[in-house]
Formats: sequence, structure tokens, C-alpha cells
Amino acid sequence: QRALLLQAKQGAFVLGTRAIPKPGQGRLLIKVEAASLNPIDWRIQETGLFIEDYPAVLGYGTAGVVAEVGEGVTKFAVGDRVAAPGIVGNSDYCSFQQYSLGDARFTAKIPSNVSFDEAASLGVSLDTPAIGLFGPHNAKLTSPIDKPGVYKGQSIVILGGSATISQFAIQLSRLAGFSNIIAVASPVHEPLLKSLGATHVVDRRSPSADIIASIKSIADSDIKVVYDGICGDDTQAVGWGVLSQGGHMAVSKGTIKAPEGDEETRTVGFTFGSPHIPPHYEFGEKLWGSVHDWLQNGTIVPNKVEVLPGGLGGIVAGLERLEAGKVSGVKLVVRPQE
Ligand SMILES: NC(=O)c1ccc[n+]([C@@H]2O[C@H](COP(=O)([O-])OP(=O)(O)OC[C@H]3O[C@@H](n4cnc5c(N)ncnc54)[C@H](OP(=O)(O)O)[C@@H]3O)[C@@H](O)[C@H]2O)c1
Repeated sequence: QRALLLQAKQGAFVLGTRAIPKPGQGRLLIKVEAASLNPIDWRIQETGLFIEDYPAVLGYGTAGVVAEVGEGVTKFAVGDRVAAPGIVGNSDYCSFQQYSLGDARFTAKIPSNVSFDEAASLGVSLDTPAIGLFGPHNAKLTSPIDKPGVYKGQSIVILGGSATISQFAIQLSRLAGFSNIIAVASPVHEPLLKSLGATHVVDRRSPSADIIASIKSIADSDIKVVYDGICGDDTQAVGWGVLSQGGHMAVSKGTIKAPEGDEETRTVGFTFGSPHIPPHYEFGEKLWGSVHDWLQNGTIVPNKVEVLPGGLGGIVAGLERLEAGKVSGVKLVVRPQE
């Protein structure tokens, strides 16, 4: 099969070939029809973090057709349209190739109203806020899968609201029942973010003090939860400026800390956005077990996508755009069979 190979730690991406993996117990072989690009792809290439075995395949959002099922798989059959996240550090499960493996526990069938391109946007973008907000550590909110709507009357702030992970955070916050879902984002994204469930959109380019004042006037009470999908100096300043005593900030970057002296009264938590680690297994299975019906009913919608030309050959230019901050509100996707 054809694959985009990262040849060595901090090396170059090169188009090449590799063996098609065999699905073992509980695993599926997926013919990859669409693969999403994510910031982690260029970060791994640049920093050499997370991966020791090279050449490596990256790509953490997969959609395609089941080509083979491993022993013990009962929920899927050859020909099913499915979506799954990749595994950081395990090339066989990643999507920048024509065939990848999926773990049946964290794979969902795609209903007919959702395209492969759209379904590829789920992967790590859905896992990260879902686990960060409702998983076994970090914000530890009551999951809407178990009990929807329990946060009625409360406010949540989503910083970097148009980031693809934050778009899922907004939708999940809506399912959790938050009355005020305040997204900080570019005003151009206001219609999209409101369609997902944001109740208010505050202009991310206003001075921090103004953003903080706007959020406080909207919330009109304690803000116990903030989700920061960006973790820049600007979003962090706003986040800590609005988070109440006893509140928690869930973040997408592992380096973020609470302001000095605040550690006792306000907490911060990072989540590695993957169901493939033991503490996330149980929640991950419930999450991916919900995806088909959510998509079918429109309860959760995928990101808007931009399909890049050139199949696997289009990935490098796409990652350059992502790194340069030239992707706004959409998920870049390639079609590896092209
Ligand atoms: N922990 C994990 O496992 C994990 C998993 C996935 C992602 N991440 C991290 O989470 C971050 C977001 O990932 P993503 O895939 O969602 O990114 P993305 O969609 O590519 O992010 C681009 C979006 O972010 C917005 N943005 C950029 N800087 C902003 C700022 N200072 N304030 C507000 N909005 C800003 C842009 O909005 P405009 O349109 O206004 O420019 C754009 O729409 C990345 O840093 C990524 O590495 C972590």
C-alpha cells in the first residue's frame, strides 16, 4: 500500500510503501477513504516527540470501509463505513496510508448522512475535548452520555472557539446542558459556533480586559469551567481572568499551569486526547459507542472540511498551512486512495 512516511525523528515526509497490517483480536482493517490533518502531525515532525519507531506513519482521524475483521469482532462487518482515531506511536493505526487498523472498541459506523471526509474530522478532535471535559480525570464533568443536561443554569467558557477541538467542546457542552456557552473566537465564525450550541461569541481580538468584562457580564455568576483549545498567552490571560475560585480549566497543551499562588484554589488539567490508554478505555468505548447515533440524529455534527488535492501527496502542504495558522474553522482532509 501507499503511505506517507516520516522517515526519521525530525526527518522528512516521503511518499513510499509499507505492508498492509493484519487485524488481530478485536481489530479491523480499514480501507482509508479520508484522513484528517491535525496540529499534532507537524508537531511530531518538528519536535521528534512521542514516536521512537521510524519510518512512521501519522494521521489521527480515519474514515473508510471495513476491509477485514479480526477475531472476536461482532459489531462490524466487511463493507461497513466507519470512523476511528489513530494511535500516536503505532503506525499501523494511523491514517496517512491506504489501509489502517482500527480498535473495534473505539470505532463507529458512519450513518449515510455523513461523508467519509466529514467523518475523518472526528478522531482526535472529538476525543480530546470529550475526554478532557467528561473523562476520568481533568474536568471530570458528568458525561451527557450518562446523564444529559445536568449543567442547566451554569456557564462554560470555550477559548479558541473555532478550533476544531473547541467546536466539539461547544457541542458537548450543549449536550451537558450548560445555559451559557461562551465562545471566544473570530466574529466571522459566530453563525457556525451558534449553530453548534454557543450562546454567545466574544471577539477573540478584543483587548483581554474587554473580553473578560464581556464574559463576566454574560455569565452573571460563577464560571466553574473553562476549556482552552488554544493555550496561547491571550487565551490563558482571559481564562484565568474569568475562572472563579474552585473552578477548573481543561487545556489542550501539557505545559499549562495555574498562576502562581492559585494552585490550591483553581485547578488546571491536560488530557492526552486518545482513548487508547488504559485510563481512557471505558470512557472511550462509551464515547465511540455513541457516535453513530449522534451523527445520524445531528446531535453532534462533524467539522466543516476542506479536501486537499493530491491524496497523500497533499498532506505536507496542508501541514504547512496548519502550522502557519492559515486554517480557520475547518478541518483539512485528504483522500489516500487518490
Ligand atoms: N491534547 C491533545 O491530545 C490534543 C489533541 C488535539 C489538538 N491539540 C492541540 O489543540 C490545539 C487546537 O487543535 P485544533 O486541531 O482544534 O486546531 P485548529 O482547528 O487547526 O486551530 C485553528 C483555529 O484556531 C483558532 N485560533 C488560533 N489562535 C487563536 C487564538 N489565539 N484565540 C482564539 N482562537 C484561535 C483559529 O481561529 P481564527 O479563525 O480566529 O484564526 C482557527 O480557527 C492545537 O494546539 C493542538 O496541538 C491537543
